[in-house]
Amino acid sequence: MKKLMLGLAASLALAFTGGAQAQGTYPTKPITMIVPFAAGGPTDIIARIVSEHMSKTLGQQIVVENVAGAGGTTGIARALTSTPDGYTIAMGHLGTFSAAPATYPGLKYDPINGMQAIGLAGGTPILIVARKNLEPKDLKEFVAYVKANPDKLNEAHAGVGSVSWTTCTLLKGQLGVPKLNAVAYRGTGPALNDLVSGQIDFMCDQIVSVAEQVKGDNIKAYAIASAERSPALPNVPTTKEAGLPDYQIEAWNGIAAPKGTPKEAVDKLVDALDKALKDETVKKRLLDLGTVMPSAEERTPAGFAALIKRDADKLSPTLAAAPK
Ligand code: MLT
Repeated sequence: MKKLMLGLAASLALAFTGGAQAQGTYPTKPITMIVPFAAGGPTDIIARIVSEHMSKTLGQQIVVENVAGAGGTTGIARALTSTPDGYTIAMGHLGTFSAAPATYPGLKYDPINGMQAIGLAGGTPILIVARKNLEPKDLKEFVAYVKANPDKLNEAHAGVGSVSWTTCTLLKGQLGVPKLNAVAYRGTGPALNDLVSGQIDFMCDQIVSVAEQVKGDNIKAYAIASAERSPALPNVPTTKEAGLPDYQIEAWNGIAAPKGTPKEAVDKLVDALDKALKDETVKKRLLDLGTVMPSAEERTPAGFAALIKRDADKLSPTLAAAPK
């Protein structure tokens, strides 16, 4: 009996020590970061830059997995319905977290009440871009051209509910041409290739993936839909300067995990994101692409969750009524 008691005490001690160790050792294996769009688009670019540094802090590789489809909701649903153990996280954005609930009534995840926000990775200003040889020379001409030729133009987007879809839906609503020909891609990386080659006429996209193509004169940018010009593209006028003052929208990318992810994992992911964004090399890479660095508050789960909710409240009425 004495032997049995000692054995029991030993196993309990082991269980507690083991538990304490398990608690204090996250992560013990690679982490998957789901990017819900094709490679080469803004979400993928930001995910790869940030996760590379986060991996160093965490001491485990963050493996980026592209799971595209349905405007990014397929990949985000997969991430947020996975086991909440800190080993599956997602890089989402304004579309998947704030716009999707209004555009997909049967959405399989709830970004407001059913997920663990980690933090904002970057603000991503929106540009109205077009193939290089599209006739209009500036935004005013583009607006007149769109209104006069609604049947001639092809718009590219990354699926209903994506940022490109959301921001162009708002633009078309303002211009009174809600139904242009639109082509859905698995991400704006592939869409951008077709814009460069001239198969697509225009799109609205996050600065991160288009900045280099605009600088290289491979496509043209009519305007940036922010209050200020971007230091990454100082020659591109704001929509206010270019004659469409009411078209203003800020997009962003950020990280989330399934609801119920252990606090230790959440704290470590938040810390790793913060360290990545403070790193001078990471910062330079992001700034060169036009990313707006998140405030200290937006890097926290609570700050990021508040941003998601604020934008969902703002976008929902318009998007729910928009043609899909
Ligand atoms: C979007 O339009 O939602 C994004 O640009 C998609 C992407 O990151 O490829």
